[in-house]
Amino acid sequence: MSSQEHPEAALPSERGDTREGAVTPARADPFADPGLPPHEPRVQDIDERAAKRSERVVAFLFTVSMLATVAFIVAYVAIPVDRSVYVFPIGRISATNFTLGLTLGVALFCLGAAAIHWARTLMSDVELIDERHPVETSPEIRSKVLADFKEGAAETGLGRRTLIRKTMLGALTLIPLSGLVLLGGLSKAAPGTRLRRTAWAGGKTLINQNTLQPLRPEDIEVGSLTFAMPKGMKEEDHDFQNQIAKAAVMLVRLRPEDIKDKKELDWSADGIVAYSRICTHVGCPITLYEQQTHHVLCPCHQSTFDLSDGARVVFGPAGHALPQLRIGINKDGHLEALGDFAAPVGPSFWERG
Ligand code: FES
Repeated sequence: MSSQEHPEAALPSERGDTREGAVTPARADPFADPGLPPHEPRVQDIDERAAKRSERVVAFLFTVSMLATVAFIVAYVAIPVDRSVYVFPIGRISATNFTLGLTLGVALFCLGAAAIHWARTLMSDVELIDERHPVETSPEIRSKVLADFKEGAAETGLGRRTLIRKTMLGALTLIPLSGLVLLGGLSKAAPGTRLRRTAWAGGKTLINQNTLQPLRPEDIEVGSLTFAMPKGMKEEDHDFQNQIAKAAVMLVRLRPEDIKDKKELDWSADGIVAYSRICTHVGCPITLYEQQTHHVLCPCHQSTFDLSDGARVVFGPAGHALPQLRIGINKDGHLEALGDFAAPVGPSFWERG
C-alpha cells in the first residue's frame, strides 16, 4: 500500500505521533497551562462565628419553606374557590390561585436557596482536579469514587450540624404534602352535576344578547341568527362569564315543514328553534349560519350542525348534537324557556357517558 493511496500516512502528526515507527516529535504546546490560582479559604472556613451565621441562615430558609408549605395547605382548604383579590398591577384574580402560587413558590424558592447557601458556605471547599483517564474505569478507580462519595457525604456535615439536619428533614418532609393535597383535591374538582345545569329554567325570558331587551317571536327574522341569554344575567356579575359560557343560546326561524325532527318541532315556538351556541367539540361559540341548508358552522374546527334535523353533526370533529332549549311564548308575548337544556352543553366530559 503506497502513501499515494493514504496520503495522511506520509504526513507528520501535529500532536506527536505515538504509533510504532513514528519519528515526528510532538510540538510544544503554544498555550501553557496557567495552573490554578492559589486557593482562597472562605470566611466560614476560618471563622466559626461566620459558619454559625451561615448555619442559621440555612436553617431560617428551611423554616420559611416549612411555614410556606403549611400556609399552602391552609390556603387550599380555607379559601373559597370563587373568592377574588386585587393584585397590582395584574388586577382582580382568583384568591386561591394567587395564594397557592405564592406560598408554593416561596416554599420551593427557600428550599433551593437553603441548599445553595449551605453548599456555597458550609460544605467542603476542597478544589479537585479531575485528570483525563480512559473511558473504562478500573476497579481501583471505582472503589476510589465510592470512597470519595462517602467522604463527600461526610463532609456535608450532616452529622455535626444538627440544626440544619432537623430543619432540612422538616422542609423535605412537608414539601411533598403540597403535591398530595393537590392530588386529593382532584376529587373536589370533579364537576358532579354542575356541567348539566345552566342558568335556564322554566319561565326565564329570552333576552337579546345585543340589545338586552326581551325577545318577541317577530324579532326573529328568517335567515338570521339571533343570540340570547336568560333574563337576570348581568355582565357585571362576578360569575357572568362562567354562566354565559353554558347558557348562550342562538335562535333561528325555520318553516315548520322544514323541521325534520318531531321533538325539535315540539320544542319550537312559532317556527323558532333555540339551541346552545357552544360547540360540542371544544366549546367555541358558533357564529355562522347558512340559510339555504339550515347549517350552523363552528369557526374553530369547522364542525357543522343541521338545525333542521335536531342540530345533529353533519361534518367535523364534534361528537354530539347541539342541545336544544325548549321555548314557548308567555302572556306578554315574549319568548321564554320551558326548562333547562335536555343534555349537557359544550364539549364531552368524562362523566357524561
Ligand atoms: S370547537 Fe367547534 S369544531 Fe372545534
